[in-house]
Amino acid sequence: MLLHSIKELRELRKNWRGLKVGLVPTMGALHEGHLSLIKKAKETCDKVVVSVFVNPIQFGPAEDYDKYPRTLDNDTVLCEKEGVDIVFAPTPDEMYGSGNRLSNDTLTYVCPPFFYVNKLCGKTRVGHFDGVCTVVLKLFNIVQPDYAFFGQKDAQQVVIVKKMVKDLNVPVEIIQCPIVREESGLALSSRNKYLSDEGKQKALALSKILNNIKSCYKRGITDIKGLKETAYNFLTEDYELEYLEILDKNTLEEQEYADNNSIVLIACRVENVRLIDNIYLED
Ligand code: PAF
Repeated sequence: MLLHSIKELRELRKNWRGLKVGLVPTMGALHEGHLSLIKKAKETCDKVVVSVFVNPIQFGPAEDYDKYPRTLDNDTVLCEKEGVDIVFAPTPDEMYGSGNRLSNDTLTYVCPPFFYVNKLCGKTRVGHFDGVCTVVLKLFNIVQPDYAFFGQKDAQQVVIVKKMVKDLNVPVEIIQCPIVREESGLALSSRNKYLSDEGKQKALALSKILNNIKSCYKRGITDIKGLKETAYNFLTEDYELEYLEILDKNTLEEQEYADNNSIVLIACRVENVRLIDNIYLED
């Protein structure tokens, strides 16, 4: 069932008392990556809500909010096939009130700690994680799920959402699900749609870099600088590398040497499309 209003969702939610409710928050343009979250939610929960909302407050002024793919009809069909109980697709006015300027002088924001946002994607996407935490907490309050499902692809997002849930005593268990990849190794992303065939080939450098670092680590190299330097074999001037970091996977702290708790994270622009990917050194 497709719902656009918070009131209707709340009415229906009242009938689910005593059942395990799962939420899969998305911005739509659903692909196999999202479907893997939905499948996990279906396995874990009695009722599943998928939210489809391109959240304006997590996009910077120069980012792709207007251009972001919106495919609600197709998303709804996919959700129905997976047996999703509710697709919740509110408008920005429904979420934030009409006429609201959506800035933090008119709206209450949830701001995660500077330590977690002042790195990786947060460094260039200033305010992005304030927007993510604000909408995620609102969705949690609206849907009141027992479980919420997030993909490891947005690794910094999952760490930050877990931190928010812990710090604010939000009664939701966060379930992190593995990255889904094309056979080529390319991590699935709604933004892959912007890439030409040639761009998609180039984008394979991200997963190659990550796998190569992992195999170097498996061969006994733990020096972080040395591990990072192996990336330059794969990057030509066609790639705009934004970051390549090796950090503690739970805390995003820097490490002296890579270990089994490390995660390697990369962000890179290919054909001006911003792509991210990551890998755990142990799995
Ligand atoms: O990962 C996403 O798609 C978004 O950041 C989320 C969690 C749905 C919040 O808008």
